[in-house]
Amino acid sequence: MEHENIVIRRGTRSGLPIIVAVHSTALGQAIGGCRIAHYPHWRDGLTDALRLSVAMSDKAALAGLPNGGGKTVVALPPGHVLDPAERRDLLHDVGDVIASLDGAYATGPDVGTGPDDMVTIAERTPYAFCRPVSAGGSGDSSVHTAAGVLAALRAVCAERFGSPELGGRSFAVLGLGRVGTHVLRLLAQEKTAHEKAAQLRTAHEKTAKRKAILYAADVDESRRVHAENATWVTPQECLTADVDVLIPSALGGLLTPSTVPHLRCAAIAGPANNQLDEPATADLLRDRGILWAPDLVVSAGGIIHATAVELHHETSEQAGARVEAIAGTLTEILRTTGSTPLEAARTKAQAVREKARRETHRR
Ligand code: PHE
Repeated sequence: MEHENIVIRRGTRSGLPIIVAVHSTALGQAIGGCRIAHYPHWRDGLTDALRLSVAMSDKAALAGLPNGGGKTVVALPPGHVLDPAERRDLLHDVGDVIASLDGAYATGPDVGTGPDDMVTIAERTPYAFCRPVSAGGSGDSSVHTAAGVLAALRAVCAERFGSPELGGRSFAVLGLGRVGTHVLRLLAQEKTAHEKAAQLRTAHEKTAKRKAILYAADVDESRRVHAENATWVTPQECLTADVDVLIPSALGGLLTPSTVPHLRCAAIAGPANNQLDEPATADLLRDRGILWAPDLVVSAGGIIHATAVELHHETSEQAGARVEAIAGTLTEILRTTGSTPLEAARTKAQAVREKARRETHRR
C-alpha cells in the first residue's frame, strides 16, 4: 500500500461517507483540500481520494514545502443536495475525522468547499487552512492559485512562443469555478492592457493584431455570468478550441487517448488536479507537439500562499513572491530533455523527498 493512512467513515451526524487519505508525512504534515462532490458510488470517491492525495505529495514537494500530501473526499450520492443544516453536520463530521489523525493531516478548500466551510471544520479541529482573514486564516486560496496559474502561463508562453507576454495570446478556460473565474478575469486584464498598448503604438493605423481571443466554458450554464469578458462556448468546443493555450480549470481526467487527438491548442496549463487519465497520455501529448505543463506545478499557488502565511507567518508580499516562483520551477521542468514534463516533475518531486530523507537521517 502506497498510503500511510486511509480513513473511511460514515459521518455520525450526516450519515455520509467521508474519506481521508494521508499519502505521506515524510516531509511533514500532510496537506490537501476537502472535496465535496457527487460520485456514482462512494468507492469512486475513494479512488479519487487515493489519486489526489498522491498528487498532493508531489505538489507540496515540487513547491518546496515541508509538507506531505493528503486529501479529503466526501462522496455525495448522485443528485444529493445538501441543505445548510446538513452541510454543517457534514463539516463537523469531517472535522472529527481530521481531529482523529492528531495533526498528521490538515485540510483546506477544494472543489465544493470554501473558506466559510473551513471555519465550520475548525470548530472540531485546528487543522484547517484558509479560513477567512476575519476569522484568523489566510483567506480564500483561489485567488492565489489563479496568480500561480498566470505565472505558469507566462513560463509556458515563453517556452512555446518565445515571449512570456499573455495579452496577445488566445486562451480557452475550461471550468469557471472559483479558480477558473479568477484566471479568466486576470487574462482579460492582460488583454485590455495589451490592446491599450497596441493602440498607443499604432495610433492611426489599423493594427494587424494577433487574435487575442478568450474562450470560456462550464458544464454549469449558470456560470456564464462569470464569462462576460470571454466568448462562451460549450465544454466540448472549449476543449478542442484552436487556441494558444488550453487552461483546464475544472475536474480532472479530461486528457485521455480519446480526447487528445481532437485538441487544437499548442500548449496546456491549468489548475485542475490530475488532468491526465493515465501517465501514458503525457506521451500522446508530446507526440502531438502539445506542450503540457504538469498540474502538479501549475496549481500549487493555493497551498504555497496558505502555508507561507499560516505556518511560516510570512507577509502577503513574501507569500506572493513564492507563488511567482512557480514560473521558475515550471521552466526547469519544461526544459528537461529526454522525458515528458510529467516524468520530469515526478523525478524532481522524488529527488526532493530523497534529499529530505537523507537530511533527517543525518540529523
Ligand atoms: N485545493 C487545494 C489544492 O489542491 C488544497 C489546499 C489549498 C490545501 C490551500 C491547503 C491550503 O492544492
